[in-house]
Amino acid sequence: MRRLIVANYKMNGDKKLFAKIIKEVNKVKVRDTKIVLCPPFVYLDEFNLKNKNVELGCQDITNQENSKSTGQISPKMLLEFGVKYVIIGHSERRKIGETDEQINQKINICLNNKLKPIICVGEEKKSDKLDIVLEQINYALKNIDNNIIPIIAYEPVWAIGTGKLPAVNRINKMTRMIKAHLEKLGYTDSSILYGGSVGIDNYKMISDADIDGFLLGGVSLRIKEFIEIVKGIDNE
Ligand code: 13P
Repeated sequence: MRRLIVANYKMNGDKKLFAKIIKEVNKVKVRDTKIVLCPPFVYLDEFNLKNKNVELGCQDITNQENSKSTGQISPKMLLEFGVKYVIIGHSERRKIGETDEQINQKINICLNNKLKPIICVGEEKKSDKLDIVLEQINYALKNIDNNIIPIIAYEPVWAIGTGKLPAVNRINKMTRMIKAHLEKLGYTDSSILYGGSVGIDNYKMISDADIDGFLLGGVSLRIKEFIEIVKGIDNE
């Protein structure tokens, strides 16, 4: 299956850095990897992507159908800028109060507008029961048509930005659990990404796990390392 590598720039970057990133990413040659770049909203217009293997994403979307929503961004606006993917339910958003219900509403809004949600799940602490992740999936996909192919990003919160990594066994256990659970819910196909402290020194080890790609944070801002990871994964 084609690998998916998603760059989540979070609240980082500026016009100068993104210009550099776009230049390099537009040049990158891959055979079987799709790259999705998710800048902050205000930079979407800078992302003049000219590489058929690279798509535009963003980091959130409104959960409101009503345009009387100060500060929110509608699907129509995102589509106008060429956005194809939306990261939903990142733990950094859950932490500031995003609820499972809002996550479900946002997924609905994406799907009703032909945007692909990248649904983030993950346990808070290393010692947490992994079933929490399945509950997050249940909430996220409540009443969502099962003819879609869900993209789930498994991001253990304790591994994000900490340099701590789960063992490959643990990632495998989780991704298998997620896939089996999705099948039980009627989703016959799915794409599972891993995110959390992936970098140049460990991506090869993690890519041995049973995953379909990565959701990258910090390393996506370091363009040389990012490209090296993309090429390394593509050559596997
Ligand atoms: P880091 O790769 O910086 O740990 O961030 C992962 C992440 O949160 C991607 O969404």
